[in-house]
Amino acid sequence: MAGVALQCSGPWRFVKLRSLVRLSTIPSLKFHTTASPMMGATVQQFEQAKSKLSTLKNDPGNEVKLKIYALFKQATQGPCNTPKPGMLDFVNKAKWDAWKSLGSIPQDEARQQYCDLIGSLVEAEGPSSDQMAAEPAGSGTMYKTLLLTTEDDITTIKLNRPAKKNAITTEMYSEVIAALEQAAKDDSVITVFTGAGDYYCSGNDLTNFKLEGGGVEEMARRGGELLRQYVKAYIDFPKPLVAVVNGPAVGISVTVLGLFDLVYATERATFHTPFSQLGQSAEGCSSYTFPKIMGSAKASEMLLFNKKLTAVQACELGLVTEVFPDSSFQSEVWTRLKAYAKLPRNSLAFSKQLIRSMEKERLYAVNDAEVECLIGRWMSDECFSAVMSFFQAKAKL
Ligand code: COA
Repeated sequence: MAGVALQCSGPWRFVKLRSLVRLSTIPSLKFHTTASPMMGATVQQFEQAKSKLSTLKNDPGNEVKLKIYALFKQATQGPCNTPKPGMLDFVNKAKWDAWKSLGSIPQDEARQQYCDLIGSLVEAEGPSSDQMAAEPAGSGTMYKTLLLTTEDDITTIKLNRPAKKNAITTEMYSEVIAALEQAAKDDSVITVFTGAGDYYCSGNDLTNFKLEGGGVEEMARRGGELLRQYVKAYIDFPKPLVAVVNGPAVGISVTVLGLFDLVYATERATFHTPFSQLGQSAEGCSSYTFPKIMGSAKASEMLLFNKKLTAVQACELGLVTEVFPDSSFQSEVWTRLKAYAKLPRNSLAFSKQLIRSMEKERLYAVNDAEVECLIGRWMSDECFSAVMSFFQAKAKL
């Protein structure tokens, strides 16, 4: 790691990039050489990522280094299987925690995330002259809470907080808006939205409700504006947008599905919008799209009475395009998408825009009305008590 001087502080100052590079050269890796690139990186891609790690000139910071360590361990050894280090063994405890936080994500997935992360770090340092000639623009951009990659004419936006079931923080809302804007402008034909780990997304991160000066009203207004922009980014998205629902989906990750062009789900996925349970109300234009897609009686069961749908039920109601067996979900879906991405790009984009343009003004109005209603809900005692109950229930566990 020539040229890397680490300026770390705090108990993790000993997590050295050099040691991560050394760790990455352990030869005893057991991978399936036939893995599809989209299901998980191939051995060659993983090896390339390991060598790229040693070319980094800047220290990416402790948090990222721990993530690299954890993904490497998960990719090569599977879920954390070593005893928890003692409280005073700060460095090994931090490393163990990082590995443990990946839960049971498969080795394929960890390998892919490792490659994506290293790729985005390299990208953030600016392209070398060879890369400038070879790499397509826009691939591997650095986001803190997302993985954004472009491959085979498909840009993939992956929510990347698997330990929190991909709950969407305020930072993540802003990053998704930026990622959608980036994907709208890049050369890809199709954009895919998916989640890392066993969940697609557990909806709004309930810690977003914490007050940071300014009181409840300001928190609600700020949250409302962010939500309005978030949903608008989906309404305005100009290319085919596909949800690859890799596991359970909750709240806003379900409500915006009416703004996607295709929704592919694993049979393990469920679809839940527990708004009234949380003293809240519908968003993501679902108060308009859901009755239109499934009829008002079925939409009310979901949006008013918190009915959780299985993937098959959601497909029968038209919210989901197709359901796949969990074991073949990734391979079947990506084979399909790669074929679709070979279709003429402009024809796809113009047709998508035609289909959606008739509705755009109405969707803006629905979004505004839903946001106004929610701002009121977020200031209500009903909402406050419901969010408190969630955290109290967690604290009792
Ligand atoms: N907001 C904040 N934190 C969340 C979250 C959310 N929406 N969803 C999950 N998490 C956190 C949990 O608090 C937990 O954190 P911890 O490990 O620090 O305790 C971690 O993610 C894992 O979740 P956990 O509850 O342990 O997993 P589970 O499999 O038992 O349950 C859920 C998963 C999604 C069913 C459950 O976490 C849940 O009900 N979350 C709230 C979903 C929700 O109401 N979303 C808003 C809709 S409007």
